[in-house]
Parts: sequence; structure tokens; C-alpha cells
Amino acid sequence: MPARMAKKKNSGTIERQRWLHRKMLEMWQRGQSGLCEVRGSDIHGSGVYATRDIEREERIIEYVGELIDKEESEKRAHAQHERSVDSGEAAVYIFTLSKKWDIDGNVPWNTARLINHSCDPNCEAWIIGRRIYIYALRDIRAGEELTFDYGFDVDCYEDHPCGCGRPQCVGYIVSRSQWDELRERLAARGEN
Ligand SMILES: C[S@@+](CC[C@H](N)C(=O)[O-])C[C@H]1O[C@@H](n2cnc3c(N)ncnc32)[C@H](O)[C@@H]1O
Ligand SMILES: [Zn+2]
Repeated sequence: MPARMAKKKNSGTIERQRWLHRKMLEMWQRGQSGLCEVRGSDIHGSGVYATRDIEREERIIEYVGELIDKEESEKRAHAQHERSVDSGEAAVYIFTLSKKWDIDGNVPWNTARLINHSCDPNCEAWIIGRRIYIYALRDIRAGEELTFDYGFDVDCYEDHPCGCGRPQCVGYIVSRSQWDELRERLAARGEN
């Protein structure tokens, strides 16, 4: 190959590498926030903690990941669930975005994927366009663990015992909107 052509090809490759590097940096930055950090959690494994006082309705961090359609989402949720059954490490990171789309947050730069569930959460997820953000539900003090309601369906409550430790804890990770149904089921089993 003539030297001039080789030089042009090399500069094209370098440009692409720079573009890729910029994109990766942007993606990584979107998953970080100065308002929180990852530490070991009493609830489960790792958790995310406020690094300073946060006001009610303040945006804390974006829940980033890959945009996938429902068909792909079902496949991945199934695979993630199978892996968690094998390893004992339960972790499903797929977040419902709309009727058509989900976000698979199972990427290492998605800090928000480590936020645990609580029956008395201090955060909630807001969907804005095709993005998901974690907002404070109330004032949060520096050092508090961040939590939100995972909104899991009552039908599979037995698979998800809750260890949030709050006085309001219903014992299982189930959407607050289905607590009445959960209590009826627990009562029928003589558990409540
Ligand atoms: C998306 S991960 C959250 C981060 C997790 N603590 C970790 O270290 O990977 C979700 C998993 O964390 C665990 N988890 C989250 N909240 C929990 C809770 N309140 N009680 C028990 N396990 C919880 C469950 O195993 C759940 O499937
Ligand atoms: Zn709980």
C-alpha cells in the first residue's frame, strides 16, 4: 500500500478510536453522581449511600443501560433469573421504560443498579422521555442508604424475601400497590 494511503487509513482508525473513547467516557459519566457512592449494605450485598444531604425531589443519579425491546427483555430477564438461581446471587437489572421498551442496567458503569429495595423507600425512579432518573422522595441525610420500591409483582413474592429492616417491612419485595393482595395471601397461609 502506498505510504500516503496507509497514513490516511491510520488517521481514520485513530479518529474512530477517539470517538469511541469519547462515547465510552460520556456513557460512564452518565452513570455517576457526586451525590452518592457505593458501599456494603446491611440490606443486601452492596448499596448506594448519600454523600451529602439531599433535598426532597432533588435528582440524584441516572439509571443507565442498554435500550432493548420487550422480546429481548424477556430473554435477558429469563437468563438473568436462571443465572441468579444457579449462583444464589439474585440480581435482575431490567427496568420497564414503556410498553415497547426496557432498559437493561446490567452494565458496570450503572451505579444506580446497586440501589436496594425498601418497604419505606427514600427515592423513586422517574421516567423522563427514554431516560430513567432516581429522585429523592423526601429529604435524605448524608450517609443514609438510598432505596426505592422495586415494584415487583405479588405473584412471585416468595422468590424475593425483603431484608430492608424497616418497621413497615412486609417481609417480601412487592410493589406497595399490591400490599393488600400480599397480606391476603400471607393470611391465607397463616403467616400474618
Ligand atoms: C439490582 S440488585 C441491587 C444491588 C445488590 N445489593 C447487589 O449487591 O448486587 C437487586 C438484588 O439485590 C437484592 N436486594 C435488593 N433489595 C433487597 C431487599 N430489600 N431485601 C433483600 N434483598 C434485596 C435482591 O437480591 C435483588 O435481586
Ligand atoms: Zn422490606
